[in-house]
Amino acid sequence: MRYHKLGDVPRKRHTQFRTNGRLLVEEVMGYEGFSGNESILYHLESPCRIAEAREFTPIEHLEWVPDAHVHRHLATGPTDPGGDPISGRRCLMWNSDIEVSLCRPTTETECFFRDGEGDEVFFVVEGSGALETVFGSLPFREHDYVVVPRGTTYRFALDQTPQTWLVFHTPGEIETPNRYRNRYGQLLESAPFSQRDFHPPAELETHRESGDFDLTVRVRGGLQRYLLDYHPFDVVGWDGYVYPYTFNVHDFEPRTGRLHLPPPVHQTFQGPNFVICSFCPRELDYDPEAVPLPYHHSNLQSEEVIYYVSGEFGSRKGIEVGSVTVHPSGLPHGPQPGLVEKALGMRRTEELAVMWDTFRPLRLTEFALALDDPAYAYSWREGTPAPVAESTTG
Ligand SMILES: [Fe+2]
Repeated sequence: MRYHKLGDVPRKRHTQFRTNGRLLVEEVMGYEGFSGNESILYHLESPCRIAEAREFTPIEHLEWVPDAHVHRHLATGPTDPGGDPISGRRCLMWNSDIEVSLCRPTTETECFFRDGEGDEVFFVVEGSGALETVFGSLPFREHDYVVVPRGTTYRFALDQTPQTWLVFHTPGEIETPNRYRNRYGQLLESAPFSQRDFHPPAELETHRESGDFDLTVRVRGGLQRYLLDYHPFDVVGWDGYVYPYTFNVHDFEPRTGRLHLPPPVHQTFQGPNFVICSFCPRELDYDPEAVPLPYHHSNLQSEEVIYYVSGEFGSRKGIEVGSVTVHPSGLPHGPQPGLVEKALGMRRTEELAVMWDTFRPLRLTEFALALDDPAYAYSWREGTPAPVAESTTG
């Protein structure tokens, strides 16, 4: 990310900085000890201050171990909305690198929240509002990725509209792909987005309020609750490279080739042993002989999961908006019979989808079981294979 500043900060770091004569509390928030990106925040009160340490609740995933290793279709569309932006998260799948949940909140979070053990990304399938954070308020809208660095205290203010989000949590760092950046970190001319497409918090409001404030921190595989006696958004200014931001998927500039380009051209973010990609409306491969759909592929080390946001997805049958397909490692996958013939000559697709590929196996939850469509595994089997004479090939 680039350098950003909101509010007041002193001319030199680690110097006396006062507001109305009161010495402010400087907090350095950084990755990799003191070697990674960091921001410096100036608080009215110590960010260590708590009034009471309350209960700790472990996060437990109810695992579903399927009877058979096959391609899966999880139909999330009919999932009932409910809960708030924290309690409403329903985990679909996870491994030690990533956890992916569906969240359809209907109420706002009653307490403040901080993920103390991972970065988070929200993909806003539908909905809008603002993520209020210690760094300031971050408005979000439909089809935004909302990226929240670990350690960011926040709460959601929701507009009165249906909300459906994909929520990613990773113990690693969410970054733009290395290959999109130059050696200084700036995004390259050839990247599918530029710094202008990334939006940091717009406004910093400093809260000077005593009272009772609940804070939940995700840490050590669970949720630790605290009671605070001072508003956690008491920052008068901050600057640095660590802050939450939004990126709207429609600002992703899709790549098209004369012949089909592979999924890495859709990559949007990287994390440890996984990528997040965006399939956006775009022109299709333009050679007259091109096959404008993916070829069958065996990703020998990947699990490929796609969430279908809108439009018609040309390479898949039997899926709809809100569907999730899981193509696990060890099995080839590709368009179902008939789809390639149908797609020949197509010049444009309106599909919008978000994909996460992991390099290590994913585990599914009982929530995923409830959404499972067992017919999907057989969707490549149509009729009886027709005998083809050798001379007809070519
Ligand atoms: Fe694939």
